Amino acid sequence: MNNGSQVVLPARNLRGSVSLPGDKSISHRYAMLAAIADGTSRLSNYSTGADCASTLGCLRALGVKWQRKDAAHNLIEVQGTNLSLSSPAGPLDCGNSGSTIRMLSGIVSGQTFVSEMSGDESLARRPMERVIKPLTAMGATIESDSGRLPLRIQGGDLKAIDYQMPVASAQVKTCLLFAGLQAQGETRIVELLRTRDHGEVALRAFGADLSSQLIDRKWNEVRIRGGQGLRGIDATVPGDLSSAAFFLCAAALLPGSELTLPNLLMNPTRAALLDILMQMGLQISVTQLEQVHGELVGTLQAKGERLKGTSISGQITAALIDEIPVLAAIAPYTERGIEVRDARELRVKESDRIASIAINLRAMGAQVEEHEDGLSIPGGQVLHGAEIQSFGDHRIAMAFSVAALRAQGETLIQGSECAAISYPEFFLMLESLLER
Ligand code: S3P
Repeated sequence: MNNGSQVVLPARNLRGSVSLPGDKSISHRYAMLAAIADGTSRLSNYSTGADCASTLGCLRALGVKWQRKDAAHNLIEVQGTNLSLSSPAGPLDCGNSGSTIRMLSGIVSGQTFVSEMSGDESLARRPMERVIKPLTAMGATIESDSGRLPLRIQGGDLKAIDYQMPVASAQVKTCLLFAGLQAQGETRIVELLRTRDHGEVALRAFGADLSSQLIDRKWNEVRIRGGQGLRGIDATVPGDLSSAAFFLCAAALLPGSELTLPNLLMNPTRAALLDILMQMGLQISVTQLEQVHGELVGTLQAKGERLKGTSISGQITAALIDEIPVLAAIAPYTERGIEVRDARELRVKESDRIASIAINLRAMGAQVEEHEDGLSIPGGQVLHGAEIQSFGDHRIAMAFSVAALRAQGETLIQGSECAAISYPEFFLMLESLLER
């Protein structure tokens, strides 16, 4: 990726309507399930991000035929293989994408060939033990460099597992469901903190039967029987709520802003950000709410007002883990500040996001206290424009573009091109909405 930079100037407010590209989490899952289903799937509004292109690249290397059909609608047509992938000629390059490597590991573990999975420098620093351990227990043979890339997976016959997840991770849960689909017996996964359920919802959309329920009123249990077949679907991926988060936080930050976001994902396991922003003062209304292939989708309207502060911990932290960088970036401008706890997972994302946030907020003149598992950011601060480091992390680059909108002076986002990992159109779209 080129080393680019982007200047962001302060703005008065933000107005207009944005159709978000398809949700990244759902795009990955739909593409992978379409690849192992029987029949053809047509996926429109597929994510335009580089991460979801990495998934498609790996699928092609595994012998899956897919084509981009209608560029205006980001339509991808995938010919399903009915769970019979081909041995790849070389390493599967997962690029920057944790979702690709973790979820695809669950699929290739059930296939009788060797897959080598690699990725970029950031991915090479991220922990893979969380999938290696349970997949090994299911019968895959996995070699790695002490739990890091590259992974060499010898797949084969899998047996079901009964697994309580030690870390809250939807990627791991989905990986095990994808492996469980190919295993003998019933796989049971228990999560102590509930994570996004797109894996479960997508599996059902492709025809799988699986159950999920709360046990002891707090733990989420998911069960899937192996040996089930999937069938291809025609689906439109809902707009990405985590990409929408940047515009929503910008609207929250700039009173007088008015924003409309049609076809937006509202899945309750992802929508904690909306509750938090409403508590903080953003006015939100939702219309045209409907379920599409089990995913809740609607049109959201938001109006910026005064911005209070908030505290985020426990289950809420898990439910908005990808939105914490942008919430933290607007925290100094809130009345009471924002405290984030139980967010240790942020240290092993595309960058150490706790450190990246603290370094960049300080560069803009903010006071911030860094904890092992979060941040305390006082409110009522005045920030100045500064040189921001993206650390190659798309969400850091976009979060600080939002912080820059209320800073004094000009902000330069170094390494801004990494926004393309999830949202290549971000800077153009942001500029088109701003009023100065
Ligand atoms: C994702 C789950 C989260 C999130 C990531 C996408 C998914 O990661 O941070 O951006 O699509 O399942 P973890 O599974 O590591 O929590």
